[in-house]
Amino acid sequence: MSDQHSNKPVGFAKGLTNYGDREFSVYLRRTFASSMGYSREMLDRPIVGIAHSASGFNNCHRHFPEMIEAVKRGVLAAGGLPIEFPTISLGETFLTPTSLKFRNLMSMDVEEMTRAQPMDSVVLLGGCDKTVPAQLMGAASANLPAVQLVAGPMSTSRHRGERLGACTDCRRFWARFRAAEIDAQEIDIVERRLASTAGTCAVMGTASTMAIIAETLGMMPANSAACPAVDADRLRIAEETGRVAFDLIAKPILPSEIITARSVENALRVLLAIGGSTNAMIHLTAIAGRVGVKVDLRRLNELSDTTPVLVNLKPTGDHYMEDLYAAGGVPAILREIKHLLHLDCRTVTGETLGERLRDVSWVDHTVVRPYAQPVRESGGLVALFGNLAPRGALLKRSAADPKLFEKEGRAVVFESLEDLAKRIDSDELDVSADDFLVLQNAGPTSESAMPEAGYLPIPAKLARAGVKDMVRMSDARMSGTAYGTIVLHITPDAASGGPLGLVRNGDRIRLSVANRSLQLLVPDEELERRRAALPARTQAPAKRGYAKLYEQEILQADEGCDFQFLK
Ligand code: FES
Repeated sequence: MSDQHSNKPVGFAKGLTNYGDREFSVYLRRTFASSMGYSREMLDRPIVGIAHSASGFNNCHRHFPEMIEAVKRGVLAAGGLPIEFPTISLGETFLTPTSLKFRNLMSMDVEEMTRAQPMDSVVLLGGCDKTVPAQLMGAASANLPAVQLVAGPMSTSRHRGERLGACTDCRRFWARFRAAEIDAQEIDIVERRLASTAGTCAVMGTASTMAIIAETLGMMPANSAACPAVDADRLRIAEETGRVAFDLIAKPILPSEIITARSVENALRVLLAIGGSTNAMIHLTAIAGRVGVKVDLRRLNELSDTTPVLVNLKPTGDHYMEDLYAAGGVPAILREIKHLLHLDCRTVTGETLGERLRDVSWVDHTVVRPYAQPVRESGGLVALFGNLAPRGALLKRSAADPKLFEKEGRAVVFESLEDLAKRIDSDELDVSADDFLVLQNAGPTSESAMPEAGYLPIPAKLARAGVKDMVRMSDARMSGTAYGTIVLHITPDAASGGPLGLVRNGDRIRLSVANRSLQLLVPDEELERRRAALPARTQAPAKRGYAKLYEQEILQADEGCDFQFLK
């Protein structure tokens, strides 16, 4: 039970429980492992851990038992012993106040359990929005050879001849219901048809974006991000992942050698080229932060100016993730922007990124456009700065209305999510389509822990009048499946004293995407007067447990909302 080259203990002989007698510890561990029915041959093999996030509270992961079996097949065939273990799971819609609050907790679970339990490499099996970032953050910190495996996207279904996929269509139908274009009976039918298979949301939402980022970083086998959850290829990918994880034991390539400044820049390029989720900026910043790489929003703007959007997927385009897989998957995207990428970056399979692209021979250009004929000339995301967002804010311009990009408007302010819920649909609300809706106190340091509430609904009376989009801004996040002219992640957030908290009804705000700016047109002296008059924070401090840890340690969006002590 030791590596023949280095003589280091492997498998069950690794990382022993401390009884003060090494041989006794090995003997005792083998005794208890034997109770699980392992033969001596299996007990002597190197171990590939399978950290998975299957849970009854996670619909996206409901096919994980089958995938775990396939990973095990790959590990066993290669000569290792596969051992699965559960970690925290974060089912996007099943957590309160928001799944983001628990991403760092899951990353700690992954980090500590891969380090504390005896394994020589690990497969990270996740998929739903926060699980893949949490696993990559944990793996980067543990720095044990690791391979990411994702759930794969859901397949689409049909409603009255139309294709449906969670969750861009969830929002589209809900907006139609709010505008009284469809009735309660129809929304009831749609509700049952939007998410009808295992897997992650079917569009270019956060889960799909993070899967593509994981593949681009090099943490996954080639062409493994976009394959549908229910496709037989998904199981073959799982089997291959098991084999790759085993191979990493003899020839280790550590997460810190894969996640580097150059591979992170590749990931940013791809994020822009796919018109990916704004959430990915927070997650990529946090993952990179774990290996000491800083993601700079001003660099994002430089890359955004020179990276076209090529992928024609909802919410910004027409197609679904299953179409991206059929079109050639992530390698097809990478091939189109090959000249913009650092091709020497290493991947978990030992190949460089460039080597992975050698055999890409066919791309369906209706889904992945050629570089010279993009969906949009410039990247999907842009960072904004100004006195309203000194440390930056984000706009997903590929999902926004360019007619609203250069605009000055009157602020209609909501002080909290509760205030928003209470007044947004009131006929008394003084609002017009030219106003800017401003939501405060929904950032990472607020009680609501930065929910995906940045997609402020169009006030009911304007929705009924046919208004589809207007400028909205907040310190909250937005689902990757949502769309609209929506400024997010305003940093620092209002609850920590950021200028967003100083905006008052009737103030003028100027948005200029061309100048990358977001300005509150109120004199500095007046802002100082308002700051001095701010009431003391009413939020009662958390008394104990994880909530207290979160409150003490949470960083702002520009630092990935990681915890200070985990960086
Ligand atoms: Fe899991 Fe959308 S709810 S990916």
